[in-house]
Amino acid sequence: MPTSTNELPLTTEVARAGAQEQQRAEELRQQIRRANYLYYAQDAPELSDAAYDALMRELRELEETYPELLTADSPTQRVGTDAVTTFTPYPHRVPMLSLDNAFGADDLRAWEEKLRRQLGAGPELRIEYVCELKIDGLSVNLTYEDGRFVAGGTRGDGLMGEDISPNLRTISALPMQLLPLPPRAAKISHTEPSAAASLPASLFDAVALEEAPAPLQQGVPTRIEIRGEVFMSHREFARINAELEEQGGKTFANPRNAAAGSLRQKDPSETARRRLDVFLYAVGECEGWSFQSQHDLLQTYREWGLRTNPNVRVCSGIEEVIAFCDEWGGKKGELPYDIDGVVVKVNTFALQRELGQVSSRAPRWAIAYKYPALQVRTRVESIEVQVGRTGALTPVANLTPVALAGVTVARATLHNEDEIRRKDVRVGDTVVIQRAGEVIPEIVEVVKGERTGEESEFFMPSHCPSCGSPVVRPEGEAVTRCPNEECPKKLHERVRYFASRAAMDIEGLGDKQCEQLTQSGLVRDVADLYSLTKEQLLGFERMGDKLATKILAHIEESKTRPLARLISGLGIRHIGEHSSEVLASHFGTLERLTAASVDELAGVFEIGRRTAESIRAFFDEPRTQQALDKLHDAGVRPQSHTNAPQSDRFAGKSFVFTGTLTRLKREEAEAMVKRLGGRASGSVSKQTSYLVAGTEAGSKLTKAQEISVPVLTEDEFLQMTEEPAEE
Ligand code: IVH
Repeated sequence: MPTSTNELPLTTEVARAGAQEQQRAEELRQQIRRANYLYYAQDAPELSDAAYDALMRELRELEETYPELLTADSPTQRVGTDAVTTFTPYPHRVPMLSLDNAFGADDLRAWEEKLRRQLGAGPELRIEYVCELKIDGLSVNLTYEDGRFVAGGTRGDGLMGEDISPNLRTISALPMQLLPLPPRAAKISHTEPSAAASLPASLFDAVALEEAPAPLQQGVPTRIEIRGEVFMSHREFARINAELEEQGGKTFANPRNAAAGSLRQKDPSETARRRLDVFLYAVGECEGWSFQSQHDLLQTYREWGLRTNPNVRVCSGIEEVIAFCDEWGGKKGELPYDIDGVVVKVNTFALQRELGQVSSRAPRWAIAYKYPALQVRTRVESIEVQVGRTGALTPVANLTPVALAGVTVARATLHNEDEIRRKDVRVGDTVVIQRAGEVIPEIVEVVKGERTGEESEFFMPSHCPSCGSPVVRPEGEAVTRCPNEECPKKLHERVRYFASRAAMDIEGLGDKQCEQLTQSGLVRDVADLYSLTKEQLLGFERMGDKLATKILAHIEESKTRPLARLISGLGIRHIGEHSSEVLASHFGTLERLTAASVDELAGVFEIGRRTAESIRAFFDEPRTQQALDKLHDAGVRPQSHTNAPQSDRFAGKSFVFTGTLTRLKREEAEAMVKRLGGRASGSVSKQTSYLVAGTEAGSKLTKAQEISVPVLTEDEFLQMTEEPAEE
């Protein structure tokens, strides 16, 4: 971007647009916006793809010839603009709340009962709800001023997200300009009889007083925070993963992660290539407009040209809600995107206001009905054994491919021999598999009634399937291992892990590349990566000059990764990403870590004696020392760990922990806060940003409630600490 007009070439003649060009550009913009509206919001396109492309082409050409005609909200500006290196904070003017969950019909009935109690009403009160699909994506908050999109951010911790405006601008379904509405009276209710109409008289009076008279409104709000979910369709997910696989990159585990990774791309043109989609369903701050109900909101959004999900139903009473949830439980697999439940909202806003919030976290007037982990039946075609980086032999079931929660599943891990015996899984069996969240699919049980007698039992091989060495299974351990340090598969996996995002994060070195590098003998240990030359890389399949140069640059870059990444990449048994962080933070330098005794290691918070012994044994191996020397000679200089925070996610926030935490130790939770730039304190005061309450929380919880300090559960705290997963 030019910083001053002096930077413009003085000699070049710049064409100036006349009134005619200006008018044509505006016409084209209008036509394209209308086409987008009909296509995305109304699902009723009027233009063919070719006609649409022609309009876009003409507009682009006009804007190229007459740059002064280019406007920030032009439909041509959706291919991504300047790359950003960091995201700036995006404060939510009204907090973005989360929802309580219901896991079955009884939970929903109990919720309705609670609502009635809260309203002081009996069973005669028929509450009207809106049921919407719970889209499994990432929530975003978009600000429109006088109908123009001005900025948008992620949810973050609900109070502060990250500004991802350039990336949001690339989403074609998101209008940069809302369509103004003709004058109309604000609707009191869309359908008869409304919840308000069936309220007890006193409450109805209160509602009527608050709502009347219905304001006349038109156009667009002066300012509005529009909220919704950005997601990726199954089709796009499959396309991107196929592309990543082709390039040897790491694929995404599911559409949600792919959407998260794409939305947080530093380079918006990359986001533009990943076609994200969006459904809008909620409002934050709103000036110059009033919605009467959730149904009114959705309808108005649609009329403004915003994309809303068509599968919505207004239900009278909780039994109709339950029917909707059951119905979608049966057919959610048919949708072209993932949902993980149904969001049930009390329809009228008057009643919503009456009900208010449970805490600063969730409203009382809405609940998320969650479907149980999806399960399907399929057949075990064969069982193969994979060799991991530590030599562990893992049996994996090859399944008849089935669609499960939006992805095709063809394999499931069987963990180890004991697990196969416990579940009695045989080749040829019909099995029930499930995918819960982001976990790799697993076999839940064998459908024994389907056995024909043709099934065959599985036995762990006596020799490594990769190198043929006799395998070992130490007394008392469940894992069978290949003990051969030269085993080619172990080496391949070690190099792959070293280069992965969990460790040195070397872009361009995916599974295929690592296999080629190790099989060719060019890489015999991870340090060999640092002596690769372009000529060597060019000998590989699908490797051009450009890609080879890139890979070498990424390898070079990795030399100064933080210490924790190198520790993780070394592949010490029992040491994953988290323990690597802990070790790096305790010892600060690799030298101090390698010199530590078992006692010193075991004295580190969160490192057990068994792990300490495993670390010591690893560093005592002569080959480890050789590898470390070689890495040092190659110029690998991990950044020493300082106690400085590794992120500013919690900057300016102070946390107090109380009660018994189940997943974290208190010290660990406090260390996490510090690592993320926040403060952990022992007592609750007005300065406290959040109280994290475990079970049996006592006076601190009462105090926090008294002075309105937001209270989080342990799970919510953990969620706040997490970056959206990218893999
Ligand atoms: S309404 C206060 N509606 O679910 C109510 N949320 O568990 C705010 N979500 O953070 C949410 N589809 O990311 C609402 N139709 C929908 C939704 C939806 C997906 C997500 C959203 C929210 C989370 C709550």
